[in-house]
Amino acid sequence: MTQATAPRVLIDRERIRERVLALGRQIALDHPDGELVILGVLKGSFMFLADLARAIDRPLRVEFLGVQSYGNAKTSSGAVQITLDLTNPIDNADVIVVEDIVDTGLTAQFLMQQLAARQARSVKLCSLLHKPARAVQPVQIDYLGFTIDDVFVVGYGLDYAQKYRNLPDICVIES
Ligand code: PRP
Repeated sequence: MTQATAPRVLIDRERIRERVLALGRQIALDHPDGELVILGVLKGSFMFLADLARAIDRPLRVEFLGVQSYGNAKTSSGAVQITLDLTNPIDNADVIVVEDIVDTGLTAQFLMQQLAARQARSVKLCSLLHKPARAVQPVQIDYLGFTIDDVFVVGYGLDYAQKYRNLPDICVIES
């Protein structure tokens, strides 16, 4: 990549806040009873997960899975790797997999397949962002924040070469 210009705000923190609150309310309504597990996919989902968990007004458990599908490039390698596995069982729980973005769909498809084998009561996918222009695998997103165009986004947890995750808004970097 050549020298990047300063990130441009695509979705500001107030729009994110409102959308995350609405998603949290919906998840709580849809899961009135039983054990609810919010499963964050590291690293990109960490900020979204933290806000989403506070927006779900009912008892829940927080778990994490580490996966990596990109190197330091802006395009997917297509290869998905588990870098950190669950440390607690999820059997009989309603599991919400929390992603920052569904891009090609390869990561989400891989994860949903892996989790299907773990005897959860249900497994649903919640993604803050969806970039349908780059879809390779069709993925059902049960709870979606925003659909975006084919632009490279950073901030609010998302990185470029591990940078920009701490930006409070979702931004676009252009070369
Ligand atoms: C990103 C993102 C998703 C995945 C989506 O993770 O968090 O997990 O890519 O891309 P896909 O739909 O094309 O599979 P990444 O591997 O960049 O790691 P990170 O979350 O640690 O930034």
